[in-house]
Amino acid sequence: MTIKDVQDKILQLKCEKDVCILAHSYQAKEIIEIADFTGDSFQLSIAAGQVDQKTVVMCGVRFMAETVKILSPDKTVILANPGAGCPMAEQMGKDMVQTVKDRNPDYTVVAYINTTAELKTICDVCVTSSSAVRIVDKIPNNNILFLPDCSLGAYVAGQLPHKNIKLLQGGCPVHAMVTTDDVNKAKAAHPDALLLVHPECVPNVVCLADFVGSTTAIMEYAANSEHGDFIIGTEMSIVENLQYRCTDKRFYLLSQKFLCPNMKITTLVDVLNCLDGNGGEEITLDETTITEARVCIDKMIELSA
Ligand code: 13P
Ligand code: SF4
Repeated sequence: MTIKDVQDKILQLKCEKDVCILAHSYQAKEIIEIADFTGDSFQLSIAAGQVDQKTVVMCGVRFMAETVKILSPDKTVILANPGAGCPMAEQMGKDMVQTVKDRNPDYTVVAYINTTAELKTICDVCVTSSSAVRIVDKIPNNNILFLPDCSLGAYVAGQLPHKNIKLLQGGCPVHAMVTTDDVNKAKAAHPDALLLVHPECVPNVVCLADFVGSTTAIMEYAANSEHGDFIIGTEMSIVENLQYRCTDKRFYLLSQKFLCPNMKITTLVDVLNCLDGNGGEEITLDETTITEARVCIDKMIELSA
């Protein structure tokens, strides 16, 4: 079977079985092509609450599938590849965060959406990389406890100096590996290119960027810019997807370290197996977790309006 054959079969089965396929922008091009909706974490959360189909297949990582289940508890939600976790989302346990929370009772707990459903149950507001600055700015309390990504938290703190932001020391192992040395090498190789980076990168990389934004924001910026050359500082799929979308522009990956194995683990065959009823993992969360975790996601949606 060719890639096209598998894609055609997926498209046929998804119509027959009333299934919606959601794909994060880090997914491979052949998956993006068969998805009903593609986007960054924030856009996927919004889409999750609005889809009509009874079954949703998530091509992304586990916390994204959990977010769909929290927002649409009556739907069957399937994570296309059960091995697709996000190490950052699993870095902080509920008990540890509860202890920090108890020691800082005057703080509003802001959780990056890259957290487990269990941890979200004790957080006040959720944010994504595209909404973090906007949402934290709107929180009436100036005392913020931000977790788990200290790089995104530092970026938010830099944009909102009037806020008193305490950071917990977590982060994305993929983005955190990239250094200013990598930036210097990429800039030397492509002196005319603009540097676009994701705020999960460490602060001394972020401060060298011409633009900082979520995966979708980076793609929109590059597509709409009059500039022709870009160094992309986030997962390598964005370079591939941008190169297909903007054939007249040139995209260079900031570093070969930008490979998220969890985002790459999902294949077209995994998606086909989900539709055949032989693959994926149905996400199940108990009612209390859904109700409690939903509070901080609803708050995110309310504050981002
Ligand atoms: P976005 O918020 O840009 O989608 O990135 C989240 C992320 O880390 C996906 O791995
Ligand atoms: Fe998690 Fe980082 Fe991979 Fe995103 S890129 S899924 S934050 S490990």
